[in-house]
Amino acid sequence: MSDPAIKVSHVSKQFGDTQVLRDISLEVAPGTVSCLIGPSGSGKSTLLRCMAFLEQATSGNIHIEGEPLGFTDGPGRKRQSPAELRRVRSKIGMVFQQFNLWPHMTALGNVSLALRRVRGMGRAEAEERAMKQLDKVGLKERAHHYPAQLSGGQQQRVAIARALALDPTIMFFDEPTSALDPELTGEVLSVMRELAAEGMTMVVVTHEIGFAASVGNRIAFLDGGRLLFHDTPEVVFAAPREPRLEQFLDTYLDRGAAMLK
Ligand SMILES: Nc1ncnc2c1ncn2[C@@H]1O[C@H](COP(=O)(O)OP(=O)(O)OP(=O)(O)O)[C@@H](O)[C@H]1O
Ligand SMILES: [Mg+2]
Repeated sequence: MSDPAIKVSHVSKQFGDTQVLRDISLEVAPGTVSCLIGPSGSGKSTLLRCMAFLEQATSGNIHIEGEPLGFTDGPGRKRQSPAELRRVRSKIGMVFQQFNLWPHMTALGNVSLALRRVRGMGRAEAEERAMKQLDKVGLKERAHHYPAQLSGGQQQRVAIARALALDPTIMFFDEPTSALDPELTGEVLSVMRELAAEGMTMVVVTHEIGFAASVGNRIAFLDGGRLLFHDTPEVVFAAPREPRLEQFLDTYLDRGAAMLK
């Protein structure tokens, strides 16, 4: 059997006196989508950031495709060398709520920059590759536009192309559509849907319960830093006997219903 794409073992995280993650263990199988849901402040972003080593867990271990992330395995556990950490982390691409594009660079410039800086590619090769990724997210025609000339949905698709250009095998998304007007979320979710259909391993923090239910192979529900569920959407959504989950879903269903009025 192959290694899980991501293995989180007994991860806890404290910020000062605040316990934000409490003994989280979960596995994400290669080629699957896990959607991370839960109330505000439940620790979703912190967990995702720990899984990318943007944040260091206070205790516990994380493995990416069978390799330790951040610390070496076994006795005499040590910090990984920067080169080793970089290598393991390069398997992960990240997309955040804020697109963080350079305003003075075109879409093509934004996507090719990392290839030139991180991969040391020449301009021509980097731009050719960047153009392929922009095409993939449906933005070939907008390659020479600046962020200010693009809608929020298009900017987020550029950010996705930028992450994909570095060839990750795993993609993390932290509320990728939360900064967008409702009519622009669809185009971003459909790019993510395609990516999932191609077999990309994904972890998606989202409030889009419909997306989570239809695209997620697993739903992880966090509450107060505890992982209460990590199961199929059928199990999690069909029978929310857990009062905290029921309450969370009710809030969302109410909000969804309110938006339809
Ligand atoms: N750098 C930090 N320093 C101190 N506390 C932090 C830090 N980052 C997050 N926290 C706290 O950790 C808790 C979890 O935050 P986190 O951002 O992970 O929640 P979340 O589930 O992503 O919430 P949201 O849905 O609002 O994005 C919160 O109480 C938050 O205030
Ligand atoms: Mg968050």
